[in-house]
Amino acid sequence: MKILTVVGARPQFIKAAVVSRELAAHDNVKEVLVHTGQHYDAEMSDVFFEELSIPRPDLNLGIGGRSHGAMTGAQLAGIENVIVAEKPDWVVVYGDTNSTLAGALAAAKMHVPVAHVEAGLRSFNRRMPEEINRVLTDHVSELLFAPTALAMDNLAREGIVDGRVLAGDVMFDAAIFYGERARNTSRILDDVGLRPREYALVTIHRAENTDDHASLKEILLALNEVSEKVDVVWPVHPRTRKLLQQDEFSRLISPRVRLIAPVGYLDMVVLEHGAAVVATDSGGVQKEAYFLKVPCVTLRSETEWLELVHSGWNRLCPVSSSTTIAAAILDGMGSTGQAVNLYGEGSAARLIVERLLQSTPR
Ligand code: UD1
Ligand code: UDP
Repeated sequence: MKILTVVGARPQFIKAAVVSRELAAHDNVKEVLVHTGQHYDAEMSDVFFEELSIPRPDLNLGIGGRSHGAMTGAQLAGIENVIVAEKPDWVVVYGDTNSTLAGALAAAKMHVPVAHVEAGLRSFNRRMPEEINRVLTDHVSELLFAPTALAMDNLAREGIVDGRVLAGDVMFDAAIFYGERARNTSRILDDVGLRPREYALVTIHRAENTDDHASLKEILLALNEVSEKVDVVWPVHPRTRKLLQQDEFSRLISPRVRLIAPVGYLDMVVLEHGAAVVATDSGGVQKEAYFLKVPCVTLRSETEWLELVHSGWNRLCPVSSSTTIAAAILDGMGSTGQAVNLYGEGSAARLIVERLLQSTPR
């Protein structure tokens, strides 16, 4: 069986790492890994291939840094060429990025079955590009690997019943598999000069928080306020970095807020583990905070991972005034949630590969 895997953005490298490892354990499976090039800085891409031991991509299409239409369209055409050349039995896509949609659409139009890992997530906010990507991807997929029961229900509500599999979350697999390696190798706390439980870890990259300049300013002012009480460290995503370099924003940031370059996954896990609180708009980081039992404040109006909110591990803080945001982050410190098991047993990748091997495309 030949599997064509399409990845392109940081969280997809982490998700695909655990599934690729599982695929490699089967002699009768050949995986062809295509990187769309959506993320291209070494610290957004190469570092993950190196430290997570992901096989080098068979092909990098080099298509990143463009508008939604230009990027998705070029990726679609590029992936179509690869499908023509490789004739895969399945195309596997991850998450909700433009690369996900391009891979799914290219395959579906060529009658190659699509397997979607992390299917069924919904924010019910169609202004998010990710929501469009995930809804469309789910509707052209034959196998839909849902991480949670809620995701399974979301699919059923849209009439997608066949092909759903409650698989658990591959990011949980990754956290377990690489967690020990992270603790043994990362020196990030010493490098940045941080003490466990004495800092807030921040990540911000959503379009709604960055492209909206008023929101970004309130977030920056809130972080300044937080940094008066506790250290703040922020590995800055390139989308956000480009904005923070502009005068309008750079003059607002207190030197107490430590801006650092994006870090590799192993360093990130250690930063998350040591944090007193995580403030983020990232999907993956919300869950990793829960895996590591660290309180999380999500700077958004809604989340696709509602079970984190219901179990008390995550608090939503819609971006309004800086004072409200700062108070939410500081209040989050020391809070805990219920002892619940939300994302499976750490065997999602194995289950996904087993189902792929068993499934004859419809
Ligand atoms: C994308 C995904 C988002 C995901 C995020 C993970 C879409 C629509 N969005 O958002 O769902 O949460 O990845 O991080 O697919 N850039 C660089 N260097 C890089 C990567 C990006 O400079 O290595 C710049 C791009 O040139 C662009 C900006 O960052 O100007 C945004 O990149 P893009 O891939 O369009 O979206 P993300 O915000 O990364
Ligand atoms: N991450 C990382 N380095 C960073 C920031 C995030 O390795 O500097 C990891 C993080 O641990 C998680 C994933 O990237 O596994 C989340 O990706 P991101 O926040 O870019 O996207 P999202 O999950 O929101 O789609």
